[in-house]
Amino acid sequence: MTIPSEVADRSLAPEGRTRIEWADQHMRVLQRIRERFSKQKPLEGVRIAACLHVTTETANLMRTLAAGGAEVSLCASNPLSTQDATAAALVEEYGISVHAVRGIDAEGYYRHIDAALDTRPMITMDDGCDLVTRLHQRRRDRLADVIGGTEETTTGVIRLRAMQAAGVLAYPVVAINDADTKHLFDNRYGTGQSAIDGILRATNVLLAGRTVVVCGYGMCGRGVAARARGMGADVVVTEVDPTRALEAAMDGYRVMTASEAATQGDLFITVTGDKHVLRAEHFELMKDGAILANAGHFDIEIDLQALGALASAPPRRVRPEVDEYVLAPDRRVYVVGEGRLVNLAAAEGHPASVMDMSFADQALVIEWLVAHAGELERQVYPVPRDIDRQVARLKLETMGVRIDELTPEQQAYLEQWEQGT
Ligand SMILES: NC(=O)c1ccc[n+]([C@@H]2O[C@H](COP(=O)([O-])OP(=O)(O)OC[C@H]3O[C@@H](n4cnc5c(N)ncnc54)[C@H](O)[C@@H]3O)[C@@H](O)[C@H]2O)c1
Repeated sequence: MTIPSEVADRSLAPEGRTRIEWADQHMRVLQRIRERFSKQKPLEGVRIAACLHVTTETANLMRTLAAGGAEVSLCASNPLSTQDATAAALVEEYGISVHAVRGIDAEGYYRHIDAALDTRPMITMDDGCDLVTRLHQRRRDRLADVIGGTEETTTGVIRLRAMQAAGVLAYPVVAINDADTKHLFDNRYGTGQSAIDGILRATNVLLAGRTVVVCGYGMCGRGVAARARGMGADVVVTEVDPTRALEAAMDGYRVMTASEAATQGDLFITVTGDKHVLRAEHFELMKDGAILANAGHFDIEIDLQALGALASAPPRRVRPEVDEYVLAPDRRVYVVGEGRLVNLAAAEGHPASVMDMSFADQALVIEWLVAHAGELERQVYPVPRDIDRQVARLKLETMGVRIDELTPEQQAYLEQWEQGT
């Protein structure tokens, strides 16, 4: 049977398989879930449309769902995050339907989402809410079969909550991002390491002794700031939330406005989920040679249109993932990965061992959604607490780490109110 698919080059499949297997070695929790799924088949006959970054880690999640009996159709959640070898291997080696090509234009991007929706999904998996938005705005004919969905990232959860508030969300969606075993690890350590990795692969600059400006001190920003400091950079944080700004200041970073930071930074990393965080008024103040990168979900954090308008010529590609904008004869700024998620555009995304937890949450939540089909409201749900804790426990086990248990005396003490001073 031919598997419906559109990938860049099927001959890359053997390379993709080796890479998927490499990632799998670091995804021990997901492996255990896959073993159980292949015996119990909890997803038998369940059609899933997944709009996720097409990486080796995602491939292992797709394999896990397929092992559970699901029929999966995967498309990309960002035009620059697809690994073409991974996409090819999923189709050729694992028999999973994929529509994803790195560097696809906007028309192709939505054609691929439509292809996933054409499979009449019962479950949707999203990373940024583009598939869910498409389904609600343009493909309402495909809503009837959907019993629930999952959302991977902060930006997608914000969009879903806006849909719920507007009364338009048509089915229950679980906010994977909000699980402790997701955002405390994936957003912080995953984005922290892989955003720096992407910038270094693209530019090969030395961070030691440079001023790195991190815009946004949320879960991701904390990770990026910590890793930049660890490599010897002088880290400046910009924020709009007073509590987060205070936290950054007490964590030992210099906190200032983006305009003040614009005059000082050698490297700027936006990671806010917000629009036009760096814009014309900031570009005009930047030093010659300043480098700009974005690790937030969409390519809107750096106002590239305004940067293009300030430049004397169209951007010039000076390295595979670096564009030069000449703002004055003696002042150039550089943009990495076209302002898209730098860790995926210029590197390989998060390391497998951290995606192990996020994707274990995904697999277990999909099993939970199927078991509770028809019982849930049209709203955004948190990941059930027992799933979150189960993933933490399993991860510790696979790391060979043991922890204490409460004694009966401690358990009783923690549940009472009478004993005090
Ligand atoms: N690169 C990746 O692989 C990856 C992984 C996880 C999440 N993300 C994305 O990264 C973004 C941030 O995620 P998060 O979990 O850290 O979110 P978060 O909500 O924890 O933090 C975002 C922070 O940005 C701040 N902020 C908003 N507007 C700002 C502005 N104009 N200037 C300065 N600060 C501003 C907010 O106050 C908040 O503290 C989201 O778009 C998310 O989807 C990317």
